[in-house]
Amino acid sequence: MKRVDDFRLKFGKKELVPIVIGGMGVDISTAELALEAARLGGIGHISDALVHDVSDRRYNTSFIKDKTRFYKHNINNSDKAIIKFDLDMLAEATKHFVQATMAAKRGEGLVFVNCMEKLTMNGPRETLQVRMSAALDAGIDGITLSAGLHLGSFGLLADHPRFRDAKLGIIVSSVRALQIFLRKNARLNRLPDYVIVEGPLAGGHLGFGMDWAEYDLATIMAEVVQFLKTEQLDIPVIAAGGIFTGSDATSFLEKGAAAVQVATRFTVANECGLPDKVKQEYFKASEEDIVVNNISPTGYPMRMLKGTPAIGSGIRPNCEAYGYLLDGNGGCAYITAYNREVALHPDSKTISVMDKTCLCTHMRNFNCWTCGHTTPRLKDTTRRLPDGSYQTLSAEHIFKDYQFSIDSQVLLPD
Ligand SMILES: Cc1cc2nc3c(=O)[nH]c(=O)nc-3n(C[C@H](O)[C@H](O)[C@H](O)COP(=O)(O)O)c2cc1C
Repeated sequence: MKRVDDFRLKFGKKELVPIVIGGMGVDISTAELALEAARLGGIGHISDALVHDVSDRRYNTSFIKDKTRFYKHNINNSDKAIIKFDLDMLAEATKHFVQATMAAKRGEGLVFVNCMEKLTMNGPRETLQVRMSAALDAGIDGITLSAGLHLGSFGLLADHPRFRDAKLGIIVSSVRALQIFLRKNARLNRLPDYVIVEGPLAGGHLGFGMDWAEYDLATIMAEVVQFLKTEQLDIPVIAAGGIFTGSDATSFLEKGAAAVQVATRFTVANECGLPDKVKQEYFKASEEDIVVNNISPTGYPMRMLKGTPAIGSGIRPNCEAYGYLLDGNGGCAYITAYNREVALHPDSKTISVMDKTCLCTHMRNFNCWTCGHTTPRLKDTTRRLPDGSYQTLSAEHIFKDYQFSIDSQVLLPD
């Protein structure tokens, strides 16, 4: 009987354990988590979501404080169009984070950064270009393009000296999205080094509509593998979404995946950035506690725990501090929803906004508990402690369980 360790993800001559820990912003897939994946011979992701804040928390910089002070005069203004990101500061914050992470890297694996296109930052093209270029400058091994079609993203990097040597990949949820991406980028003569096919059971934003339950990862992956074969394109395909055991992973590797990307099992790792209290919420969750809703201003459905504090919260938009979801015209669906509720309840001190949430602030404060479909199974991966809480696990334990387990078993910690 085969196990994950019988397979290798090949990038040219480099061979890796075919386990990728997916990007989880904001700082949920921490540098520490990504570095463990790399040390163990796989691939880990950091995320550049709210990178200024991540830098401030980790390296004592004051990007957010400085930006908030600069735009303080606008805090009571419902129009956020004037809020812009200083591109030099964005590059500096990204370099800080990436350089420090890469300097700590040990082992044969790789560390990639997850770049979401939906972080439009009131200047989609120029901010994305700076984010990706600065990460390459600072020595990141690769960039995973996510949360968007990224039709112009390769073009933004085409003049970068590392455009052809760094690993560049994209997350898609359909063969069609991949076809469009490849067509749009054909003139650059630069194929992606890997394609992550993310199915509807993943955490974070979903690349499906609210009819997500009608799709399944195995079918989409088979379509992508077949398409690449027909086109004679030799691009490793990485399957993601709902892969909970080593046996699940092995079955995808046997069906033609070059690796698997996993995340939910690592949300309860010691190295994961979620506060311990939130990790316990993930452990405790049952199937009825999970919802897929439309409260993300990005327009993509998102899966989360029902008890997530972000649902119904009516906080004032905090774009002076963050503003990562401002589209190119200073708009964000949460601002619209919030202003509507304020107009409807002019005398209320606190309001509730049910249809959208202030995602930047809530993700920053770990108050949006996004999770994968398999979260209710996390409790079966550990032991209960005498005080009734669940024991969190080392990333190494989870990684090796994926790598070596068979028979759909999950190894409990000592
Ligand atoms: C808490 C959490 C946060 C996530 N955040 C992101 C993100 O910021 N960007 C992204 O591309 N994917 C994100 N994802 C998706 C994962 O990277 C991964 O592809 C997916 O969850 C794998 O499925 P699994 O969780 O069932 O293992 C997130 C997943 C989780 C569980």
